[in-house]
Amino acid sequence: MLRIALATAVAAFTLDEDMDPLLAACAQAGVAAQRVAWDDPTVSWQRFDAVLLRSTWDYTDRLTEFLAWCERVSTQTQLINPLAMVRWNTDKRYLGELGRAGVPVIETCYLGLADAPDDFPAFDEFVLKPTVGAGSRGARRFVADEREAAVAHAAALQAQGREVMVQPYLAQVDSAGETALLYFAGAFSHAIRKGPLLPRGSEATRALFAPEQISARQPGEAELALAERTLDALPFDRPLYARVDLLPSADGPRLLELELVEPSLFFDTAPGAAQRFVAALGDALR
Ligand SMILES: Nc1ncnc2c1ncn2[C@@H]1O[C@H](COP(=O)(O)OP(=O)(O)O)[C@@H](O)[C@H]1O
Ligand SMILES: [Mg+2]
Repeated sequence: MLRIALATAVAAFTLDEDMDPLLAACAQAGVAAQRVAWDDPTVSWQRFDAVLLRSTWDYTDRLTEFLAWCERVSTQTQLINPLAMVRWNTDKRYLGELGRAGVPVIETCYLGLADAPDDFPAFDEFVLKPTVGAGSRGARRFVADEREAAVAHAAALQAQGREVMVQPYLAQVDSAGETALLYFAGAFSHAIRKGPLLPRGSEATRALFAPEQISARQPGEAELALAERTLDALPFDRPLYARVDLLPSADGPRLLELELVEPSLFFDTAPGAAQRFVAALGDALR
């Protein structure tokens, strides 16, 4: 019998809505799955056939520690998705790489720790967020008149040791929402709509993640094509799980994020998705 650790975090232990459907689907498939916190020092990881990253959502505040843990786990058992993908995907500068490979990503300006915090173009309305981020933490939306507050936010992130990215605000998200496409073992599984998350004038969330409005969605042709193109541009084989997050724009969908580490998979929105996922996991480990 396969023994799988479903890695969450102490801070997220009861918050992962995919956990119960995943545990149930594993039980159904005869896989011995256990929910374990990555930051629980008492766990011996080598007793699992694989450690599946699921809701390690606080890694953004502890990236060095998290990557060291991933490295250690990788020497003891199989980490999914694998270490090289985790390293590559935990810093959103990967968007620049995908953009250079021809993927239509949202226009992004990066500010390193040594860059001036005001060294970004004059957008009418824009988003400023950390390059290592999840759950909308540290993300804020500004209008051109609020540039001073935006520069202060950039400087505050830099002072915390966080690099910064600035993007135009793609306002169609306010009505159309964001589309996330879930791929298991390289094949499209299902998609969801996520409501807009950054009301004008609001502070960054203080929670582990900002509350989200999720519903099932049928992706459009252009969205499916962009998701496929994104996965084809990866410097890796297609992973066991991937979530491609897109925002609408006047010129068609744009890549917001590609999530290969600990994306919510929204099993509850798609009957059979958890079973499909566990079948793909079983095949990968055979
Ligand atoms: N350029 C943008 N235009 C419009 N909304 C954005 C933009 N960037 C981020 N957002 C909003 O902020 C949320 C969080 O940003 P995202 O880049 O997905 O980071 P995280 O890794 O925290 O999920 C998105 O789901 C979206 O609602
Ligand atoms: Mg996101």
